[in-house]
Amino acid sequence: MINEIRGRKLKLLYSQDEVLKRVAQLGAQIAEDYRGKHPVFIGVLKGAFIFLADLIRRIDFPVQVDFIRMSSYKDGMEPSNIELIMDTSMPLMGRHVILVDDILDTGNTMTFICDKISSMCPASFKICVLIDKRERRRVHIEPDYVGFEIKEGFIAGYGIDWAEEGRNIPGIYVVD
Ligand code: IMP
Ligand code: MG
Repeated sequence: MINEIRGRKLKLLYSQDEVLKRVAQLGAQIAEDYRGKHPVFIGVLKGAFIFLADLIRRIDFPVQVDFIRMSSYKDGMEPSNIELIMDTSMPLMGRHVILVDDILDTGNTMTFICDKISSMCPASFKICVLIDKRERRRVHIEPDYVGFEIKEGFIAGYGIDWAEEGRNIPGIYVVD
């Protein structure tokens, strides 16, 4: 049981059970909305990898998966410049695209990715995030599917890192 990262205490926010329950609900909702549409899920690396893995396994028809990798939080809690590290590899023109990220914070990263994907002319485009820090938004962007809405605070676990650690913790924790 990991209860601290680099000397910072972790406080439980959502247990693994709570997270998986919510992910199952999101999966069921997405399955209902996309049946017959053969959607492409695009996971934003690295933070979305566990969420995406659990989410797509709640979908009971064939889907495709691709990834994009950005960096905004280089090390620790302070944001730095957004950078594209790895682009998507599938043709997205005419496809139903669901972008999956761990956290929507200021919205800067997501806006960058949205502009990029929109320029590829998908048939439809929606955003799914596990955590919405809506109060911290700096640009206008509305997610279509949200797992949990939280106030300020830095979190880790369930794929989400603090200084590249904590991704393997099953639940979601606040880094004190
Ligand atoms: P934005 O561009 O400010 O919206 O930042 C979004 C990205 O920052 C997310 O996809 C995360 O990778 C990262 N991020 C934001 N808040 C947290 C946090 O509390 N813990 C870990 N990463 C975070
Ligand atoms: Mg991220």
